Amino acid sequence: MLNSIADKKILIIIGGGIAAYKVLDVIRELRKNNCEVKTIITNSGKEFVTPLSISALSKNKVFENLFDPNNETEMDHITLSRWCDLILVAPTTANLMANFARGEAKDFATTVIMASNKPIFLAPAMNVEMWNNPANQENYQKLLQFKYKFIGPVIGEMACGEVGVGKMSSPEEIILTIKNYFLSKNLFNSKNLKALVTAGGTREYIDPVRFLSNESSGKQGFEIAMSLNELGFKTKLVIGPNSLNIKNQDNLEVINVTTSKQMFEACKDNLPVDVAVCAAAVADFKVKNYSEEKIKKEGLEDFNLELEKNIDILSFISSQNINRPRLVVGFAAETQNIIENAQKKIQNKRCDWIVANNVADKSIGFNSDYNEVFLISKNKEVEKFNKSTKSEIAKKLSNKILHALIQ
Ligand code: CTP
Repeated sequence: MLNSIADKKILIIIGGGIAAYKVLDVIRELRKNNCEVKTIITNSGKEFVTPLSISALSKNKVFENLFDPNNETEMDHITLSRWCDLILVAPTTANLMANFARGEAKDFATTVIMASNKPIFLAPAMNVEMWNNPANQENYQKLLQFKYKFIGPVIGEMACGEVGVGKMSSPEEIILTIKNYFLSKNLFNSKNLKALVTAGGTREYIDPVRFLSNESSGKQGFEIAMSLNELGFKTKLVIGPNSLNIKNQDNLEVINVTTSKQMFEACKDNLPVDVAVCAAAVADFKVKNYSEEKIKKEGLEDFNLELEKNIDILSFISSQNINRPRLVVGFAAETQNIIENAQKKIQNKRCDWIVANNVADKSIGFNSDYNEVFLISKNKEVEKFNKSTKSEIAKKLSNKILHALIQ
């Protein structure tokens, strides 16, 4: 496969945190892939790794985080920010996030960031309470709006012994994200890949004011659409009623639907695509005799609803002869025998992959911000994506999709 990062110029800003030692592996791997690497180390970064070990691996001088006349004559902040193809900040501390969110230009690192016109990837690492702190969360949201790209943080045990979201992504995950960034950039210059994603629950109306539905929030499907879009896919998101704040963006079209019939029609109308991801919790049944008038309870002792099966959108997409996407991914919400049930679903619905999760565990799945899934392929390969935010799960899945499509 094409090495998407060969000859790329990467600038790494190394923040202060115990995870800084992992950046040495990132540098080593980038160099192995023929990247040129330059680094800036913050003052607190120097407490964790030495400029000497960094320059030995990067084969370049390490810029220290001062307005040093030597820095500025040799390479000023503008030249350095123009020199690179991408900036990685790892570990990104809560303090660096706050600096970037406020647009501070108080030292070499923050000035380079402020002056940059290149993609900036942040790999945060901090204690779980620091990550969840409302001020940090506000900075996080701001930075997303400012188009900073996040790699992690992931769930795990931190240096302080506490467990939760805040651990820096592994060097492998960081390298993969950088590779995929350049891969999709190269790819989409010549080729436009299209994605269709279904998300959320649907409503099946009994009368004008009552309906059958389910608890799906639409978050996981929404995150998948966002990360496919981030990788460059022209993406259509067909989503049921939800309380997420979703807007159209460049190459991301949101199609709001209410019933499963509308979801089906929207999907049908938007084929062909290269990949379809059916993450929606589509109602399996609809009401057979919809009442145009509000049903009155007067005179009714009991009330029977007659239901009929809805079209299975995933099966419909998988069974297309001409317009079948090259990759069809379904979801399986299971409460027991997760892998076996998901494998049956692959066969019954004729899709290529199933993302299966355990909806009996309330800390993941419906309405939660977290998920833990198994990615199962039709050739019976099983890969576990450890418990993580829905956004991280979406990024992992999207990376897999991109790789599968370009092979
Ligand atoms: N699905 C669909 N259209 C339907 C029903 C389901 O596209 N009418 C898709 C879902 O989006 C998901 C997959 O089928 O990708 C599996 O759905 P799930 O609810 O887990 O399974 P069911 O097919 O409903 O089977 P069961 O309820 O028996 O587990």
